[in-house]
Amino acid sequence: MIDYHCHILPGLDDGPSTMDESVKMAKMLSAAGYSTVYCTPHKVKNLYDRSNDAVRRSIKEMQRELCRQGIALRLLAGREYILDNHFLEYINDLMPLEGTSYLLIEIPSGSYQGMILDSITAILHKGLTPMIAHPERCRILTDQRNNIIPKSLSFFRRNSIYAKMRLEYSYQHIDLLEWLLQIDCAFQCNAGSLSGTYGRSVQKASQRFLNNGIYTHLGTDAHDSFFLEKINLNLKHVNSCASKMYSSLAFE
Ligand SMILES: [Fe+2]
Repeated sequence: MIDYHCHILPGLDDGPSTMDESVKMAKMLSAAGYSTVYCTPHKVKNLYDRSNDAVRRSIKEMQRELCRQGIALRLLAGREYILDNHFLEYINDLMPLEGTSYLLIEIPSGSYQGMILDSITAILHKGLTPMIAHPERCRILTDQRNNIIPKSLSFFRRNSIYAKMRLEYSYQHIDLLEWLLQIDCAFQCNAGSLSGTYGRSVQKASQRFLNNGIYTHLGTDAHDSFFLEKINLNLKHVNSCASKMYSSLAFE
């Protein structure tokens, strides 16, 4: 199995602060059946702003430590970008999930749709595929009343290669989730959402997305070993939900 979203690297964001804790997480993931983990530290301006090179160096160092301790877990590089007012500052230095064209992005609560659309369109122009992190935790995607996009987005009208999008904007309102599906975004589910770690409403949303075939990838979004214990990777329910996705989508 592959964990597509994990804050396992030490000292780069709000994940583990020591290598020992990172190694403990790696042991737990390996024991739960994971062979590969995408290390996706946050990229948030003025908060978690370490360089992509720092991420690569950290992976190299941790992979060496895992080899030394005989822990069979492959670490690959990535980032989790927050779609805020600063996102476009990083547009020429993006770090997609290693070996793929997927860019892991989080849509924060309180973000407005124009900014989301501008950011996602810029990602597409870079030839990358947006992967929406834990959509079940994004109120703008789970609350139908919020899925209204204003008509006046001249950007799309100026860019002829996105004819499909332009077509969408001839309507006064569209459903944001529907639009993300139409442009073939990937959707990453948090394992803890399925097991109820974030509460009943997130769990219900994740089950709805799962049943509707929206998810394409699964991740733990773990920040420490305590969290991994809490989401209980061996939970029957999570594994059975995950196996539904493994069978047809991007899972090993
Ligand atoms: Fe995350």
